[in-house]
Amino acid sequence: MNHEIIRVATPADLQLVRQLDLAVFGAEAYNEQQWNSEFGEASVAIWVALAAEKAVGFCSAAIAGDDCEIRKIGVLPEHRRFGVAKQLLNSASDLAATLLMRNARCLIDVAANNTGALAFYARLGFKEIARRKRYYANGDDAILMQKI
Ligand SMILES: CC(C)(COP(=O)(O)OP(=O)(O)OC[C@H]1O[C@@H](n2cnc3c(N)ncnc32)[C@H](O)[C@@H]1OP(=O)(O)O)[C@@H](O)C(=O)NCCC(=O)NCCS
Repeated sequence: MNHEIIRVATPADLQLVRQLDLAVFGAEAYNEQQWNSEFGEASVAIWVALAAEKAVGFCSAAIAGDDCEIRKIGVLPEHRRFGVAKQLLNSASDLAATLLMRNARCLIDVAANNTGALAFYARLGFKEIARRKRYYANGDDAILMQKI
């Protein structure tokens, strides 16, 4: 495919992003209030990926001190493995490099059992730097990964 357009999401995209979040993360999606606060937070940036004008993926990232933290990234199942998430992550990395020093850390917490996401981040140059026991509400461990 590879005709995706990545653009910055604005508060007018709140419902669009929420629908994508729901479609990808189901019960773990943020509610409307949480997305409202993400869109209202100056340190958070959100992007959407469009394919043939349809929204197919999203990514949110936050500047936390000297670090860039990827908060969420998701692509609709039927649009996976076409490089959409890679492009979204590149947008987040570009912003981090612009706002922060080039050697700022880019971090992500991934559920230890999310093998697809772990493979994705590893492919894009992220390495495990720590494991957080029972990090998630359901008791799952998180693996903290950093872009090397
Ligand atoms: C993880 C996710 C965002 C990847 O999105 P994507 O658009 O399919 O990823 P890309 O096409 O950009 O993948 C780039 C490379 O990463 C690797 N990769 C991506 N998904 C993978 C998977 N499920 N298994 C193994 N490798 C994978 C591949 O090397 C891929 O390149 P290739 O297709 O040429 O082999 C997507 O699977 C998703 O939305 N998952 C559910 C939500 C989620 O778990 N988000 C992460 C939470 S931390």
